[in-house]
Amino acid sequence: MKHYLVTGGAGFIGANYVKYILKKHSDIQLVILDDLTYAGNLGTIRDNLKDPRVEFVKGNIVDPQIVKSIFEKHPIDFTVNFAAESHVDRSIENPQLFLQTNILGTQNLLDTAKKFWAVGTDEKGYPVYREGVKYLQVSTDEVYGSLGETGYFTEKTPLDPRSPYSASKTGADLIVVAYSETYKMPVNITRCSNNYGPYHFPEKLIPLIIKNILEGKKLPVYGDGSNVRDWLYVEDHCKAVDLVLLQGRTGEVYNIGGHNEMKNIDIVKLTIATVRKLMEENPEYRKALKPASLSVTDLNRINNDLITFVKDRLGHDHRYAIDPAKITGELGWYPETKFADGIVKTIRWYLENQDWVEEVTSGDYQKYYEQMYGNR
Ligand code: NAD
Ligand code: TYD
Repeated sequence: MKHYLVTGGAGFIGANYVKYILKKHSDIQLVILDDLTYAGNLGTIRDNLKDPRVEFVKGNIVDPQIVKSIFEKHPIDFTVNFAAESHVDRSIENPQLFLQTNILGTQNLLDTAKKFWAVGTDEKGYPVYREGVKYLQVSTDEVYGSLGETGYFTEKTPLDPRSPYSASKTGADLIVVAYSETYKMPVNITRCSNNYGPYHFPEKLIPLIIKNILEGKKLPVYGDGSNVRDWLYVEDHCKAVDLVLLQGRTGEVYNIGGHNEMKNIDIVKLTIATVRKLMEENPEYRKALKPASLSVTDLNRINNDLITFVKDRLGHDHRYAIDPAKITGELGWYPETKFADGIVKTIRWYLENQDWVEEVTSGDYQKYYEQMYGNR
């Protein structure tokens, strides 16, 4: 029986991971620690909270008392840290919060785990840890900076972050490395590319575009839309994190992503075409339109004229692309879901789960949207 502490488990990737491991492993116990910021939603994991293997704790990863109380109550074996401020645009508006959560939160989790996992010291003074424990830091390919038209990020690519978000994630990675080197803590770092799939908060490109199409709003494309991201279906990512946690070599970094590169403008056009096609094929999906309509003629409003090119993001990284050779070679993982299939699955999910979208955007979302896009 393994006891997990999963932070950020009410957010996009964390919730998908919680669902994935509960299905995959019967013999586990899970504590989910999440502060339920705008990006965290209990509705996302409502069914999982009924599972007797799961306990939810609302709290901040920066708070030493909360994290300590979890380790006192549960014999945690694995800490998997998804909790973070994750949106580049928000980091440009408020960098300090990103440094607090992403760097200090990571350090606090590491420190508490170190104290509870250490069972003695070796002859050189390094801590010795309980058998089978591990800390896994979920990081991002954005720590490597921005690529030109060619080349890929490998685990050896120098760290070169450019946004407050990626700088804070880099700071977190470096403190993980420091705990690994200085205290010999058993750790892994995973660096994934852009995830997409169910439960993605509609401030990020793909769910925002889907939401706006349904509402007949303009689709804001930053700059000229030529920026490239390497899209990773969230369940493929969860499989990779599970593999690295259970089988990854201690102390190693693993890049997760691969060969699903798309220009933003092509994503937007494909999303428009897919929403329209799904609605043409299945009238039930037209109920997701705002206002709801079953009329086929109303689908004419779903076309590329919705696209609007807006002021570019400050310091907008041009291209991310991952070479996943290490995780494929060592652990046999590869990105199973091709973008053409994953985007259809994702759009279907949004069309079928408008209640979830309404639930997560009922709070401050409107204010955020006005502030971010009102003057672009
Ligand atoms: P998200 O913003 O959807 O979710 C973050 C979760 O963390 C939310 O549930 C939020 O409530 C929680 N949280 C935030 N601050 C907290 C705090 N101080 N204490 C406790 N909980 C807190 O993010 P996501 O997209 O699911 O990303 C998860 C992780 O993966 C992050 O570390 C992110 O940097 C990394 N990542 C994400 C992507 C992506 O494409 N989404 C790509 C690369 C890396
Ligand atoms: P995003 O989903 O914010 O992820 P990240 O910045 O971490 O890669 O953005 C993905 C790409 O889409 C990025 O190049 C910025 C661009 N983008 C837009 O063009 N319009 C939008 O409204 C958003 C949110 C993003």
